[in-house]
Amino acid sequence: MMNTPSFRLDGKVAMITGASSGIGARLAQSFATAGAAVALVARRRDRLEALEQELLASGAQVVVVELDINDHAALPAAFASIEARLGVADVVINNAGIAAPATFLKTTADVLHDTMSTNFESAWHVTQEAARRLVAARKPGSIINVASVLALGAGPGYAAYSASKAALVSMTRSLALEFVRYRIRVNALAPGWFVTEMNRDYFATAAGEEYLKKIPPGRAGQLDELVGPALLLASDAGSYVNGVTLPVDGGHSVALV
Ligand SMILES: NC(=O)c1ccc[n+]([C@@H]2O[C@H](COP(=O)([O-])OP(=O)(O)OC[C@H]3O[C@@H](n4cnc5c(N)ncnc54)[C@H](OP(=O)(O)O)[C@@H]3O)[C@@H](O)[C@H]2O)c1
Repeated sequence: MMNTPSFRLDGKVAMITGASSGIGARLAQSFATAGAAVALVARRRDRLEALEQELLASGAQVVVVELDINDHAALPAAFASIEARLGVADVVINNAGIAAPATFLKTTADVLHDTMSTNFESAWHVTQEAARRLVAARKPGSIINVASVLALGAGPGYAAYSASKAALVSMTRSLALEFVRYRIRVNALAPGWFVTEMNRDYFATAAGEEYLKKIPPGRAGQLDELVGPALLLASDAGSYVNGVTLPVDGGHSVALV
């Protein structure tokens, strides 16, 4: 009998940005269940501490890091605190993100700047700090960038968001090649629509409900449906997966409608 590959993360230290809600919080729960020690990063400390209590009660090792991901100067101290308490982060999920949909003609310079900074530049700086530490420690690692189907296609009102996520996908490919010599894999997830704080108000409207009916599966994804793909990219089960952007969208990104 051949061994089934393991999706477990025992012994790994996972740093998850945007862990205070939605996709990041769900991935933090599942990574802790899979055996990883987890570092929860975001601005809303109360949310992070509530999740911390839940995970500690289940026996996980957890660290809370209150951080504005756009504060690049604070990253070395944030990583140092994770390293001191859990060890070097060898799984990093660049998940923090914002969306401020507006038509191109109404997108202000501030919105463009905030979108590029939070969705792309923060991931750049987090990855640079993470990779420097992994290289210094001679440890392999897995970086997972949470992009979007809007990095692969377009949607009216999402020019800034799509550009930021497409930049993230481009960075994913470049770093996959540069880091292969360090045994650090870099991949991206491209979620379709998942109902979270980012879009809950819209999907509660009649227009939002109608929109969901039109995408191929006729429904939004469930957060649990992102767990398997994320574990594949993070764990040794995905040891030969590098530089990919994996859509998790029920086929949304291949539909011609
Ligand atoms: N939901 C979807 O349908 C969907 C689809 C494709 C891609 N995505 C992507 O998935 C990721 C997670 O989004 P979500 O849907 O889970 O939305 P969400 O519930 O609004 O979560 C966004 C997370 O990002 C964090 N964040 C935002 N700005 C930050 C900053 N300056 N510093 C630190 N953390 C910051 C937020 O934490 P704080 O506010 O506490 O800082 C929050 O934890 C995003 O990158 C999003 O673009 C979502």
